[in-house]
Amino acid sequence: MSRFVLLPGDGIGPEVVAEARKALEAVALRFGLSFSFEEHLIGGIAIDTTGDPLPTSTLEACRDADAVLLGAVGGPRWDDPLAKTRPEDGLLGIRAALGLYANLRPIQVHFPAASPLRDASGVDILFVRELTGGIYFGPSSLSDDGTVARSEMVYSVPEIERVIRVAGEAARRRDGRVTSVDKANVLEVSRLWRRVAQRVMADEFPDIDYEVVLVDAMAMYLLSRPKDFDVVVTGNLFGDILTDEASMLPGSLGLLPSASLGDGPPGLYEPVHGSAPDIAGKGLANPLAAILAAAMALRHSLELPDAADAIEQAVNDVLDAGLRTADIAGAGPSASTTEMGDAVARAISM
Ligand code: IPM
Ligand code: MN
Repeated sequence: MSRFVLLPGDGIGPEVVAEARKALEAVALRFGLSFSFEEHLIGGIAIDTTGDPLPTSTLEACRDADAVLLGAVGGPRWDDPLAKTRPEDGLLGIRAALGLYANLRPIQVHFPAASPLRDASGVDILFVRELTGGIYFGPSSLSDDGTVARSEMVYSVPEIERVIRVAGEAARRRDGRVTSVDKANVLEVSRLWRRVAQRVMADEFPDIDYEVVLVDAMAMYLLSRPKDFDVVVTGNLFGDILTDEASMLPGSLGLLPSASLGDGPPGLYEPVHGSAPDIAGKGLANPLAAILAAAMALRHSLELPDAADAIEQAVNDVLDAGLRTADIAGAGPSASTTEMGDAVARAISM
């Protein structure tokens, strides 16, 4: 029995997680697997219900799970900049508490026509974003008079080593190339990152092609020559920004899953998109990112590659058959969130 904890969260989170669950149930039936599902609160809904964006009961359930599937957190309702606690604290808290230091964000272009680039066919990048350190978790403060604030970017040697190893190992399963992105021409913390990355790659991954790129140049190269990259590894903030930029290469955020992994179970799986409050509850959300995140859970946490392949194949099949949610429909007809989820579940069962 594999145990899933579902954290639907806010906005479109519940709608897309429900469709991901359908896909998992269909794959369980087809392969004779047994999955259990437990739902818990996180984010804004958890603040409304318990006052805490990451209730202890949620964290305890996640620690006992094999994989955690999260929808999204946040929304305008909880956007007060002076609020003591925010939905996002729930997400940052769970990443830190579960030690999920490596965030894998694959970027593949399925329909070049949906891309804002002239020719994006063949783009296939795996971002490895460091997720539990850097400026997100460094010391920060606001002066007593409220006129000066600081947030420090901090990385230690072991934090850099372990995420570089994740990138090197991923490259061995892919095209054998790693690009490390930093700002070593300005930041001391990036100079350490670069030294450590270079050493780990030379000592432990001599078979992998390795290069370094400055983050501002990388922002440009993602648009000018995205096909040149295989695995891209970088720190928390640069990874946050570059993966949102890269998510536009396929033309819709609605297609992109991610996996956040530590040294043991559970892994946390989520769509890269956020809570999209403007379309929440309207059946417009694309569930494919969440469904593909469920496939990543099967691959990375449950070691069920055939079941993962079956979900990914089903997604490709429904797309090939022409089914489109509004975000990728262009001027054509569009399917609702549940129509898309049902079609994928049917394709899995066939
Ligand atoms: C992401 C999101 C989060 C982040 C927010 C919601 C805290 O933007 O997963 O990329 O900045 O890491
Ligand atoms: Mn982000």
